[in-house]
Amino acid sequence: MTMRVSTRINGIDRTFECDPGATLFEVLRSLGYKSVKQGCDNEGTCGACTVLLDGEAILSCITPAPRVAGRQLTTVEGLGDPGRPHPIQEAFVDGGAVQCGYCTPGMVLATKALLDKVPSPSREQIAEALSGNLCRCTGYVKIFDAVHNAAKTIQGSHDHDR
Ligand code: FES
Ligand code: FES
Repeated sequence: MTMRVSTRINGIDRTFECDPGATLFEVLRSLGYKSVKQGCDNEGTCGACTVLLDGEAILSCITPAPRVAGRQLTTVEGLGDPGRPHPIQEAFVDGGAVQCGYCTPGMVLATKALLDKVPSPSREQIAEALSGNLCRCTGYVKIFDAVHNAAKTIQGSHDHDR
């Protein structure tokens, strides 16, 4: 038995059929959202599969697909692309916070959820917001700096509090 689920992904209405036990990760990949990565055994421990559900960062690998019915999903494809990057993406690239890039979509979306709520986060708030997102390459310092810089750009502020 499959279910029919209607949702909105990156501002576009989408309807998909899925098994009631399917995860959101499986569905998003099958729909072609290749930015959504899998970095652990779908056990919620790496953050690579992070997407936004009604603006909140969630782990798609442990989210049942039917739960997104009638709600708003955002993947990195909906934020920007190399031709028109989102300021968060720009800050990550400019700051050397992208190495292999595997963790980056999840990091960028977790950052988006943070900055939408806390426009000028402290280092601790950044670390806390990204604590579920693992990066095997960067050592995190460049990522945290990129989040800080993105916050400044988005605010257009001249905040020199570091
Ligand atoms: S794939 Fe690792 S938390 Fe989802
Ligand atoms: S840039 Fe490689 S895992 Fe983060």
